[in-house]
Amino acid sequence: MSSKVIAVINQKGGTGKTTLTMNLAAGLARRGRALVVDADPQGSAGHWVRMSSDERPFPTSVISVAGPLSREVERFRRDYEYVIVDCPPTLEGAFAGAAMSVADTVLIPVLPSPVDLWGSVRMAKGLEDARMRNPDLKAFIVVNQVEVRNALSRAMRHALMEIDIPALDSSLKRRAIYRRAALEGCSVYDLGKPGEPAAAEVEAIIQEVFES
Ligand SMILES: Nc1ncnc2c1ncn2[C@@H]1O[C@H](COP(=O)(O)OP(=O)(O)OP(=O)(O)O)[C@@H](O)[C@H]1O
Ligand SMILES: [Mg+2]
Repeated sequence: MSSKVIAVINQKGGTGKTTLTMNLAAGLARRGRALVVDADPQGSAGHWVRMSSDERPFPTSVISVAGPLSREVERFRRDYEYVIVDCPPTLEGAFAGAAMSVADTVLIPVLPSPVDLWGSVRMAKGLEDARMRNPDLKAFIVVNQVEVRNALSRAMRHALMEIDIPALDSSLKRRAIYRRAALEGCSVYDLGKPGEPAAAEVEAIIQEVFES
């Protein structure tokens, strides 16, 4: 099986790592066997699935991994087509570096302001180091919480062009339905008509990363 390991990383807190992880996992689970690895000691992905109801279980399992990932990931690759790793908001410690060493693709959610993006410049250095061990590693910025009615500011588009990591054309808008999905322990795919615009955004990301 040619499996894909996707690490969702940003050393800044609250940029949407867990939100992207869980909704992406739900979208990928519609295509093949998918697993979420919760590499964050805060355990947010684990909390998320524990909010789900018996009638509507989350479509993937979530496994907590406290230490370096490399040992477990080989086993996960055998059993799953998609392994999505939710990392903690730090580049220190064993988590993000280990995730970048074993991943095929790194996704970096950033908030739509240049200041937040500059905070991610250190990520670019971490990626360079990881590519020495993992030369085929792909990495993309995913802009999250874009205002529904506004396009990205000029300053933000300019800042995105300055940074070495390419940004996806697809982004996630700021929508209350993403918070609702977390509260209900489900994904935006499970929330009927109100979830459709958000699910379309997640689909666009999947297509851009995996299917183009
Ligand atoms: N596109 C969005 N629209 C609306 N709310 C969002 C969106 N993305 C994330 N949020 C909300 O922003 C907050 C932070 O998101 P999330 O927990 O996914 O970030 P994180 O990067 O995983 O945080 P941490 O660094 O603490 O792990 C949450 O309350 C989440 O529901
Ligand atoms: Mg998180």
